[in-house]
Amino acid sequence: MDYLRIEGKRSLFGEVAISGAKNAALPLIAATILSKKPTKIENLPDVRDIKTLLKLLDNLGASFTMENPHEAFIDTSTIDQTIAKYDLVRTMRASILVLGPLLARFGHCEVSLPGGCAIGQRPIDLHLKALELMGADITIKRGYVITEAPKGLRGATIIFDKITVTGTENILMAAALAKGKTTIINAAKEPEVVQLCEVLQQGGVQIEGIGSDEIVVTGTNGELLDLDRFSIIPDRIEAGTYLCAGAITNSKIKVTNLEPSHLESITAKLMQMGFPLDIEKDAITIHPATSISPVEIVTSEYPGFPTDMQAQFMALAMMANGTSIIEERLFENRFMHVSELRRFGAKIELRGRIATIIGPTQLYGADVMATDLRASSALVLAGLAAQGTTNVHRIYHLDRGYERLERKLKQLGAAIERLEE
Ligand code: EPZ
Repeated sequence: MDYLRIEGKRSLFGEVAISGAKNAALPLIAATILSKKPTKIENLPDVRDIKTLLKLLDNLGASFTMENPHEAFIDTSTIDQTIAKYDLVRTMRASILVLGPLLARFGHCEVSLPGGCAIGQRPIDLHLKALELMGADITIKRGYVITEAPKGLRGATIIFDKITVTGTENILMAAALAKGKTTIINAAKEPEVVQLCEVLQQGGVQIEGIGSDEIVVTGTNGELLDLDRFSIIPDRIEAGTYLCAGAITNSKIKVTNLEPSHLESITAKLMQMGFPLDIEKDAITIHPATSISPVEIVTSEYPGFPTDMQAQFMALAMMANGTSIIEERLFENRFMHVSELRRFGAKIELRGRIATIIGPTQLYGADVMATDLRASSALVLAGLAAQGTTNVHRIYHLDRGYERLERKLKQLGAAIERLEE
């Protein structure tokens, strides 16, 4: 198993380019199931979750070729299986994204029920209730969600009790081939959801309300889509993580190939903390702060502050001059990084969903263990700011969603290397 060794307290400098967004690429790869012809996807991030989903499609009978790690040519016309097996789904919850498109195209499918994970229980009840409203019969047997819609799916009005990103995406893909209109109320507004809508629209589906909390989809009544080629949007969470790397080392770095409008809640917090930012069309330069102010953060759905940046800002808050407060509203257990951050010397009190971070702290390098993707990046950030050597173990979590993290940080001047246990 690999681990990362970091020698901390080095200033960073230079530029880093952001990869395509994992959480945009996953639903778009699943959407190729709806396509009548092979689809080319560009700007894919070279990360493990993408390989896992491509492997799942391959198991279903689809074929794909890759000219390089960032471009896939996917042909789903050869799919002859509609079972997404436990072996793959258990390694990646987002595999549930094949449920909507498989059901829409084939009228039946079985997807292993994703379990809870390190950040919470993460049920999929809202996906299933919505599909039932669209005419699906759903049973859960032997750990699989078994769905049938022998007469095809029909449009319905779906009111999500909670805003769900992959739930909205699954229903968008199901509605794309359904008969009639589907209205999704309380839909997710994340840029990744917007890109999925745009690609479905280019493929021939009529969609109104893109980017709003009420989306109306007029399905094609079973006709497959004309998906051709598209390029994945930049990863706003990867971009936010590198901005935090600049901030936690109080360095000047330029983060390029991003979409600043997707990062507004993140850049607002960095500015409140005292970090001057130069925001350009597709790049942001962060400058050192003269004094780092504490911050108050409440995670929420887009355009609010993303839960996927909560751990990184907790690492950064350890450097602030005063007490910061972070409330996690989306996932009940997304504080696994707190005990690991304490190993660096952090003073963090935890009460329910609220963490109080008392800064500034002199951090000392430590052996720490990654627990989930974003928690892992917070440990790397703490390692960059800590005095001495940090070893971050179990970095397979990082490899799921950050492309060549150690190479990109090295390029920025960090002393970081990947080693084998
Ligand atoms: C997506 O997960 C992202 N994953 C997550 O990114 C992200 O943290 C999350 O959205 C929130 O922004 C992908 O896009 C692949 P939700 P998702 O359904 O869709 C509850 C990362 O690090 N809920 O929006 O699974 C749920 O428990 C990851 O890249 C139900 O109760 O999240 C949570 O409290 C991790 N029933 C809330 O809704 C349901 O049926 C929001 O979850 C569905 C969700």
